[in-house]
Amino acid sequence: MRVLAIESSCDDTGAAVVEDGKKILSNPVSSQVEVHRKYGGVVPELASRKHIETIIPVVRAALEEARTTLDDIDGVAVTCGPGLVGSLLVGLSVAKSIAYAKGKPWLGVNHIDGHLCAVLLEREDLVFPFLGLVVSGGHTSLYRVEEVGRTHLLGKTRDDAAGEVFDKVAKMLGLGYPGGPIIDRLSKYGSSGAVRFPRALLSSKTLDFSFSGLKTAVVNYLRAYPLGEDEQDRLIEVVSGFQEAVVDVLVRKAKQAARLERLERIVVSGGVASNGYLRQKFHEMAEDEGLEVFFPSPVLCTDNAAMIGVVGYHCLQKGWTSPLSLNAFANLPIPLEEIWTKGAPNPDPRPLNSDSRELP
Ligand code: KG4
Ligand code: ZN
Repeated sequence: MRVLAIESSCDDTGAAVVEDGKKILSNPVSSQVEVHRKYGGVVPELASRKHIETIIPVVRAALEEARTTLDDIDGVAVTCGPGLVGSLLVGLSVAKSIAYAKGKPWLGVNHIDGHLCAVLLEREDLVFPFLGLVVSGGHTSLYRVEEVGRTHLLGKTRDDAAGEVFDKVAKMLGLGYPGGPIIDRLSKYGSSGAVRFPRALLSSKTLDFSFSGLKTAVVNYLRAYPLGEDEQDRLIEVVSGFQEAVVDVLVRKAKQAARLERLERIVVSGGVASNGYLRQKFHEMAEDEGLEVFFPSPVLCTDNAAMIGVVGYHCLQKGWTSPLSLNAFANLPIPLEEIWTKGAPNPDPRPLNSDSRELP
């Protein structure tokens, strides 16, 4: 079964052809980093305009690279949320048009499910359930993942997402955009613990995160001890201290969640999951706890359409499809009954994507 997948929830325009939910035949992504760089963050209006320009060429490239045509596609999957509504609507309209014109089954996919299931493209042997941590520019959330498309929210950020804080701290220090990869690279030269920043909510009875206080702590530090232009060593100490604080919280909350939910496998995905220090610390924690930890390759951690194709494949296989009236959703939770007209995930006694879990 060949699924054409489309992803346009933020600032990347992606299209992919995925075979049987595991083989990527093509996965081109057109990045808008250059458009947004001078603003130090994504400008929604510019993002949707750029998606309009690039979506057809990207879909065409995906089909050509996969040596396939729209007639040979068995279904279409597209991100319907969460994300920037203007951006989402571009992909959604193209996907609906293709499905309608060609008479193909299609469905809307939750972007978060895509991040959580991207790993299946490389590890089809992965056993459910698992703990999923999505850590990106827009999200920082922990989930119990029962099966493809069926997740329970365990904890989420109460303010900024981890990637957003990487970007803001890098901007503050004049390091460029996106900040995550730059801080990751610089921190490799840093000494551990030289500058220590606070870890929010670690001792609280919640699996939620909070990163805005950390951002303020970096601001306050820089006010108290301004960085001179020639102080490269101290700059490295500051960014590595910041990175350690983010990673420490992510690792410790994930450990608590895995214990609480008695889960033996952890999947970490989203743009920040490319971070070298984060990967190292997760591997160390997993070894100590006797857990297995999985990371998609960096190219599948960041936004791409192949991950949407995986979810699309599994849901289309079950006969789930979406109505042409399906809209884009900016936020979570996305009402499941609106995504699928035909078929739906199994009812579950616990509410889907609702409130965070409390720790005992
Ligand atoms: O998943 P993604 O491509 O888009 C969103 O859905 O947000 O994630 C982008 C985010 C940006 O904030 C970027 O700074 C961060 O991921 N990021 C990183 C690294 N690579 C990307 N953060 C830390 N370390 C990295 N190596
Ligand atoms: Zn994403």
